[in-house]
Amino acid sequence: MTETDSGEVRTIYTPIADTATSYVREPEGAHPPMDYEGYKSTALRHPKQPLVYLPQTVTEITGPQLGPVLMGENDHDLTVQHEGEPIGERIVVSGQVFDTEGKPLRGTLVEIWQANAAGRYKHRWDRWPAPLDPNFSGAGRCITDDEGRYTFTTIKPGPYPWGNHYNAWRPAHIHFSLLGRAFTQRLVTQMYFPGDPFFAYDPIFNSVRDPKARERMVSSFSIHGTVPNWAAAYEFDIYLRGPGTTPFEEAH
Ligand SMILES: [Fe+2]
Repeated sequence: MTETDSGEVRTIYTPIADTATSYVREPEGAHPPMDYEGYKSTALRHPKQPLVYLPQTVTEITGPQLGPVLMGENDHDLTVQHEGEPIGERIVVSGQVFDTEGKPLRGTLVEIWQANAAGRYKHRWDRWPAPLDPNFSGAGRCITDDEGRYTFTTIKPGPYPWGNHYNAWRPAHIHFSLLGRAFTQRLVTQMYFPGDPFFAYDPIFNSVRDPKARERMVSSFSIHGTVPNWAAAYEFDIYLRGPGTTPFEEAH
């Protein structure tokens, strides 16, 4: 449950009422197709053969697990990873991670990566003429606490052009990766900001055909989460499995 900037409470998911008793395929359009006409590079990289579902074994459960010991002191705060402060709008991005039954998932590794305030990635393939920020790398990670909560302090990313078609722009977004208790439990998604004028023109955002599923990728401004006189705040809750999230198929 999150509060929108108009103050109304938005319920995305009610754990008790909405918890499924088995894993079923989600409705068409809840997730982006692997080949989406408007998103050009998917034509080159989507599987051409039917997917092969592998049976799960004990290896998926007992594989290496990441823990707090690997976390650096500043991994969750992207504004203090260099000598000086990065340029841009300072924001706190936080939320809770839930499992299939709507229970908060503690000890989950949450990783983010993003462009800087000018919409430029610190990446050798990103060459569009927007300035790099020597005080911003754009990568962070943290582990959820006992209530499944994660918190990052960062800079609001800018939108950027990406060459998919004439005058193609990505809405401002932060990439998220979440790892559950095993490497097979991974979700990669993008978090957007409310009211972005580029939504209507972005084939990646619109490759999720279900409007309600698209809404689940948009964070909410939170006045309560702001740090007074310091940082604005956005809330973004994530559901790794269950209704409205990542479906697992039965073993074939
Ligand atoms: Fe991106």
